[in-house]
Amino acid sequence: MEAIQIADGVYDVGVIDWNIRDFHGYSTDLGTTYNSFLITGEKTVLVDTVRKGFAAQLIENISSVIDPKKIDYVISNHTEMDHSGGLARVMHKIGEDKPIFCSKMGHKNLAKHFQQKWNYRPVANGEELSLGKRTLTFIETRMIHWPDSMFTYLNEDKILFSSDGFGQHYAGPEKYDDEAGDKVMHHAKKYFANILLLYSTHIQKLLDRVLSLGLEFKMICPDHGVIWRKDPSKIVDAYVRWVRQEPQQKAVVIYDTMWHSTEKMAENIVAGIIKEGVPAIPLHLRKWHRSEVMTEVFDAKAVVLGSPTLNNQLYPSLADFITYMKGLKPLNKIGAAFGSYGWSGEAVKMLNKELEAMKFEIIDPGLRTQYIPDQEALASCYELGRKIGRAVKG
Ligand code: FEO
Repeated sequence: MEAIQIADGVYDVGVIDWNIRDFHGYSTDLGTTYNSFLITGEKTVLVDTVRKGFAAQLIENISSVIDPKKIDYVISNHTEMDHSGGLARVMHKIGEDKPIFCSKMGHKNLAKHFQQKWNYRPVANGEELSLGKRTLTFIETRMIHWPDSMFTYLNEDKILFSSDGFGQHYAGPEKYDDEAGDKVMHHAKKYFANILLLYSTHIQKLLDRVLSLGLEFKMICPDHGVIWRKDPSKIVDAYVRWVRQEPQQKAVVIYDTMWHSTEKMAENIVAGIIKEGVPAIPLHLRKWHRSEVMTEVFDAKAVVLGSPTLNNQLYPSLADFITYMKGLKPLNKIGAAFGSYGWSGEAVKMLNKELEAMKFEIIDPGLRTQYIPDQEALASCYELGRKIGRAVKG
């Protein structure tokens, strides 16, 4: 790989991680990228680094443009190690005394990650850094994605370096939104649903604040996935919508099964929902990755959970998924529960408790079937589906 010029004197020197399939529990079926940007001119600046194992590639990419020792400043928009892991190697290469601009929290967090007495320059929200003919403005954006996160804006070129914000875990041959087309929106939505969703309310305020600055975005350069150059407003508008968590008329039926009984119940519930004209799909938790399931939950109005009872407990995959979903704090949902059991049958009660804890509106006490659902039980599942479908339509 080599650097790619994305604007006059501005290069993407990042790397592609084609083979990562599990990004701390998030499925990255196509891999991801760790984008890093080099701004050349009277002062040369590196914006973010890459995951540690890719630092040599980053330095090679920088070297295809400029001698790395000529870098004057490093900007760390975010401490998480997919963006700062390569920092130690970069600093060793360019000179340990070079200033590192970061947020105040970034300073604290980088110090805790690296135990190095680097030349940190913590910046305040709105602070500017002159590069000669160009100027950078730092915009504090706590919780997109960590407390240390910030955006950096290149004023004259109207380029926003947005770190995790507006990113996608997507690796492909394309560099830009117009090359990748609409498919990239699924990856952007999945990223939001699995990484940023729990901060929606906070991000809403942040977006309001950033948008009220009246900045024009000719290009938005996130640290993951494609660069938004054709229509940066498309992803900004999507975030403005997503933070509101307004569900669509859609249902998801999330379940696991031991001997196909809960599966039969799930499929009959789905058929009932569809009969009401509401799109629904059954999601078997050992066939679907939790991060894909969460992406489906994100914009669904109804979340229906099904679990067999195993050793007086929920089936473990349900417990896993509920823990994950609960942490992401989805809002504005309705819910219902179902499941097959052998003799004790606690699972439905436990699922209802979890739905309550997440403040989902429970629209039915839930359905339990002993051992194998007969025609009557399957008809009840179908009727539950119709009830859910009607509730989704409001
Ligand atoms: Fe891509 Fe929060 O790191």
